[in-house]
Amino acid sequence: MDTVSPVAPPHQEASSPQLKITSAKTLAESTNLASIPSHYAFTTPTSGDQAVHPDHDDSIPVIDFSLLSSSNPDQRCKAVSDLAKACEDWGIFMLINHGVPESQMKATVDALMGFFDLTEERKNEFQGKHLLDPIIYGTSFRASVDKVFLWRDFLKMMVYPKFHCPPEPEGMSEVLAEYTGKLRKLARELLKGVSESLGLGPGYIDEAMNIDSSLQILAANLYPPCPQPELAVGLPSHSDIGLLTILMQNDISGLQVHHGGKWVKVDPIPNAFVVNTADQLEIMSNGKYKSALHRAIVNNKTTRISIPFSTGPSLDTVVVPAEQLVDGKHNQATDISMNYKEYMEFKQSTVLHKGLCPNQVKI
Ligand code: OGA
Ligand code: NI
Repeated sequence: MDTVSPVAPPHQEASSPQLKITSAKTLAESTNLASIPSHYAFTTPTSGDQAVHPDHDDSIPVIDFSLLSSSNPDQRCKAVSDLAKACEDWGIFMLINHGVPESQMKATVDALMGFFDLTEERKNEFQGKHLLDPIIYGTSFRASVDKVFLWRDFLKMMVYPKFHCPPEPEGMSEVLAEYTGKLRKLARELLKGVSESLGLGPGYIDEAMNIDSSLQILAANLYPPCPQPELAVGLPSHSDIGLLTILMQNDISGLQVHHGGKWVKVDPIPNAFVVNTADQLEIMSNGKYKSALHRAIVNNKTTRISIPFSTGPSLDTVVVPAEQLVDGKHNQATDISMNYKEYMEFKQSTVLHKGLCPNQVKI
């Protein structure tokens, strides 16, 4: 997620002083908005690299979580090998039968929608200054320095090891505490499966990444209807920074993944999560599981919300490739000798100063 996965609009040191920063939501709700302000228009329209629907015989993998946690060894074995294939071939998959109740998913979406419905004044109390501020509300990527704005507003909260959440709207904090508690368990189980799928023991990632004190971030991206969706960008191509991201979305399309040289649409499946591999998993797997490149486009009809939950190592973990996966010949990832906190800062500052595509920032 973008906290975690800075995006790539061109940046300049400071936006022009006359430019008043408005949220995408406020802008979208202003009457008679027939075209987007010029600072939202990307010079390379996304229409230049239109996404396709997945092929019939090569569609986005679906992983059944109930099989992955099955006590039947054959079922579990098959699920682990499906997981290996999904991570290696796509870096993204749909997760079904994950055990998180539909009512809880809906309550989470509603609570976060409720946050974006607060007044700008209220929301702006959470304008963070630093990457590691525990709660950040904003628009675009970093509106104070972005030269071209993204058509999205966002809220980001560190939810583990310590839980942070705005006090409003009423009840949101309880809903998100419960939801992120469920996702923490889910992520931990998934990482066991991922660990096994790499031929490591089920507890390898848990231990090597210090998952007990994992940095977990819950974010919400709001993409209001946009009058010129072909010119605007929701989130440009990027990879996420952690180990895995588990994303929930309302039933509006917009997410795309780079696969086989093309952008492929990741259309929502009701009640399923979208899970993608991220940078730290690429490093620890020695490049076996690449960090998935993805982006989000906008539409002119309906508000889309996406709610990514990122699980990383603990902030002080220096992630290195698992020894068993380093064979001397195929050493694809480098030992970066940076702890996770430094990696986050490094990735963010590189993007801000150079406007690089984040996947190029990945080492
Ligand atoms: C992110 C992200 C995708 C989406 O927040 O990092 O990739 O569909 N979001 O909004
Ligand atoms: Ni992302």
